[in-house]
Amino acid sequence: MKRMSEKDDSVVVRGLRDVAAGESKLSYPDPNGSLYYVGYNIDDIIDRTVYEEVAYLLIHKKLPKMQELDKLRTELVSEMKLPNPILKSIKTTPINCLPMDVLRTEVSHLGEYDPERKVFSEPANMRRAVRLIAQVPTIVATLYRSRREEFVPVPKKEFGLVQNFLYMLKGTFPDASAVKVMHRLMTLHVDHGFNASTFAARVTASTNSDMYSAVTSAIGTLKGPLHGGASEKVMEMLDDIYFEDKVEEYIQGLLDDKKKIMGFGHRVYKAQDPRTKHLRGIVEDFCEGFATSYLYDKCKKIEKIVYDRKKIYPNVDFYAAVAMDALGVSKEFFPLIFASSRIVGWVAHILEQYEDAVLLRPSQKYVGELGRLFVPMGLR
Ligand code: ACO
Repeated sequence: MKRMSEKDDSVVVRGLRDVAAGESKLSYPDPNGSLYYVGYNIDDIIDRTVYEEVAYLLIHKKLPKMQELDKLRTELVSEMKLPNPILKSIKTTPINCLPMDVLRTEVSHLGEYDPERKVFSEPANMRRAVRLIAQVPTIVATLYRSRREEFVPVPKKEFGLVQNFLYMLKGTFPDASAVKVMHRLMTLHVDHGFNASTFAARVTASTNSDMYSAVTSAIGTLKGPLHGGASEKVMEMLDDIYFEDKVEEYIQGLLDDKKKIMGFGHRVYKAQDPRTKHLRGIVEDFCEGFATSYLYDKCKKIEKIVYDRKKIYPNVDFYAAVAMDALGVSKEFFPLIFASSRIVGWVAHILEQYEDAVLLRPSQKYVGELGRLFVPMGLR
């Protein structure tokens, strides 16, 4: 009997590490520690733009003029409402369902109520992209409030998408500092090259499947603890450590057991993740005076120990977890907040993939046997 691997000389790149699976003009995570959105370094735009402006940049590949931004903001807010069957489905979902599972299901469910579901034109897909950017946060806020048996506020016309999102999550008008933190947090999560969830979305889109199916693939991929699920695990770790003076022992224990420290390491960056300094800054400013400031001190200690032992830096999920905690979001919803902004990157990549019009279908290196002798059921 022969083994295929003896003659198959295809080269396998494990984990597709450093493989360029396509071209994109959307974002560039530079391994040396910078991140660009459509050519703009995030360091230059993070304090000078709002989230909706960056969303415009990603889906139109240019910065908006004031009128264009106002128009998008109005469209987004008016599209935040959900069809009644979706609202009902979210509100009646069993309490033991994981929030990410509900989000994945309801985005798929939304596809059934798309007002243009038989139209696959470029303008229809652009309108669909805007609807999804608006509706994902509403699904998240509706679930968040329903789980607490609290009323779900109706979005307000005078607020933008981010302010409405916070208002719908919390049920009270958010103060200006919380809105600013949310704009920055969401902007920092908008897009990140061919990350795993975006790649999953592009694979689905490459079959010319619809945008809801592609986003559903992305959400299922983001859920994993090696990707967007890491922020929730970071918070579990911070809760677990409990006393700041136990940090060293706890982290050493994980490293000695060859366990991964959640919120650390990155496939692309050889230097520090460029989002970390901004998130660290957000946490430092925002947590000051809050009950959660002790978390920041724990984080700084963890960061130092992990760097000293492994020369690994925190990734986006580490300080984002503390920022979301300071905003009063409970940890099982952290990946859903991530999805509520990454939806921008997903739809932008789906639109780009439709333009590219090529099926993403890699090959494999088959390492099993060939020519095995078939034994009928009765003789096995
Ligand atoms: N804790 C401890 N050691 C780590 C960590 C970590 N978080 N991350 C990487 N390493 C070590 C590995 O053990 C390995 O060491 P070795 O060479 O001595 O065996 C080396 O660094 C390389 O790690 P890989 O796992 O090969 O790196 P890879 O690129 O495959 O994985 C990943 C990247 C998945 C992000 C990894 O760093 C990880 O699991 N981190 C924890 C989970 C996490 O925070 N995920 C969020 C990522 S950001 C995002 O998706 C939004």
